Amino acid sequence: MNIFRLEFQMNRGRVCERILESSKLWKRWYASLPAPRTHQPMKNFVDKSRAPSDFEDRFALVFSDIISEAESDALIQDIHLKMKRKRWEEGHWDSVITKYKETELDRNLSPTSMKAIERLRCLIEDVSFSGISTVSWLPSHAIHLHKDGKLSAHVDSVKFSGKVVCGLSLLSDSIMRLKPHNDLDRVSNTDSEFIDLYLPQRSLYILSGKGRYKFTHEILQSGAKFRLGTDKCIEITRDDRMSVIFRDAREEQ
Ligand code: OGA
Ligand code: MN
Repeated sequence: MNIFRLEFQMNRGRVCERILESSKLWKRWYASLPAPRTHQPMKNFVDKSRAPSDFEDRFALVFSDIISEAESDALIQDIHLKMKRKRWEEGHWDSVITKYKETELDRNLSPTSMKAIERLRCLIEDVSFSGISTVSWLPSHAIHLHKDGKLSAHVDSVKFSGKVVCGLSLLSDSIMRLKPHNDLDRVSNTDSEFIDLYLPQRSLYILSGKGRYKFTHEILQSGAKFRLGTDKCIEITRDDRMSVIFRDAREEQ
């Protein structure tokens, strides 16, 4: 056999070997990834049994186990660190929220927290903005609500914040209640119609459409009950709660 031809064949063999080897590595790496998850909202985490008849599922969604325990720990630690020197705000007599601390979150976060926040924004873009990645996000915001603190019924400002209001729940399970309000003062005018959202730790809620604009939202006190499915009622003990709030910027008119 011609020496050049032999040399060529040996080289070709080595190249093939390398390709095979790297494809094996590639496969091994791919197999080590967690199985891809498609996130479906938890229908039974939204109790619509007392909802007005025109309330649609898409107005209020809850996704469970949306971040890992490790991501939750990283976020809680980062938020604690940022709030270390803050005092509990008491709020004024008419304030929506009492006994709380808050901070903006976009800087000085651990890579784990940053990644989790980025992933949640992508999920919200997929669910509520048909995957548009040019949504302009306001800086994320963290709230630490003391176990004796209150977050009473309100509609988020429509001046700066846009179409969705979303929150990641940490530290404590809780219940969010939505109530229809009258347009003038944005205060709820009924106790007979409401929708309850069960918000376990590491879940994400998304309010949009009427759920964002035409209903107030509030966090119920510890001991409130949630109707899970048709025949189960769970009592929620709310301890200190942390939340990370995601809002898109209002579009220029
Ligand atoms: C708010 C609010 C809810 C939450 O900050 O406006 O409604 O989940 N927060 O902390
Ligand atoms: Mn709010």
